[in-house]
Amino acid sequence: MESRLNGGRPADSQAPGGAVVALRDVTKVYRDGNVRAVSGVSLEVPEQGFLSVTGPSGCGKSTLLNLLGGLDTPTSGGVFFRGQSLATHKDLDRLRSRTIGFVFQTFHLLPNLTARENVQLPMFGDGRRDAEREAQAAALLARVGLADREDHLPGALSIGQRQRVAIARALANQPALLLADEPTGSLDSESGTTVMDLLGHLHADLGMAMVVVTHDPAVAERAERTVRMLDGRIVSDTAGCP
Ligand SMILES: Nc1ncnc2c1ncn2[C@@H]1O[C@H](COP(=O)(O)OP(=O)(O)O)[C@@H](O)[C@H]1O
Ligand SMILES: [Mg+2]
Repeated sequence: MESRLNGGRPADSQAPGGAVVALRDVTKVYRDGNVRAVSGVSLEVPEQGFLSVTGPSGCGKSTLLNLLGGLDTPTSGGVFFRGQSLATHKDLDRLRSRTIGFVFQTFHLLPNLTARENVQLPMFGDGRRDAEREAQAAALLARVGLADREDHLPGALSIGQRQRVAIARALANQPALLLADEPTGSLDSESGTTVMDLLGHLHADLGMAMVVVTHDPAVAERAERTVRMLDGRIVSDTAGCP
């Protein structure tokens, strides 16, 4: 199944060593409160790389992740996806929905849709037939260990299972980049470990680039590089765990 989930991924056609996404001297100021959330940050996320981002609450981690994923725009500086500036990108919505997967601390599942329907949400509009989308969603749920929970509503799942559904949904379009903002932040330590093991295995099997924001040193341990932030700046960028 790995090869199927991985099939035709654009990342495969990229030269190794290139950046999937890069920030160049990026600053983000929120007018509301005049907060400089990210200040003069440059960062490259290599194709198929695995970065963790750590730092105290309020230091700009979520803002950084949203800038990397094109969910937010910089006040100054540039964000480049495979070398192309997002500021001049013609179809940012499509880039986001087809190439980038997002995982949030609080899952963001639709409560009235089953697990399988939630996973299919990003696939709509891609011209695939219903049966194909359903089969792909079922394969993804099996991949995250929820083959027997396809027809459950989120409310009937444990919180750890909800996060695994959200991860399956983030993988729906075989993203080249998976961005996760404190994915274990709402979970107990056991389901947090399950989710992080899963993310580690998915990275190894599918080879998408991954950036995981976390407070949890056990999470950072699994990454190839750890970026530490303080007051909107990157204060260290080290191989492995700090
Ligand atoms: N939408 C917003 N409007 C105004 N200020 C914000 C907004 N989002 C974040 N901030 C502020 O920007 C700073 C960085 O926030 P954030 O990126 O959420 O940090 P972290 O994820 O590390 O906790 C904080 O001071 C926060 O209060
Ligand atoms: Mg945050």
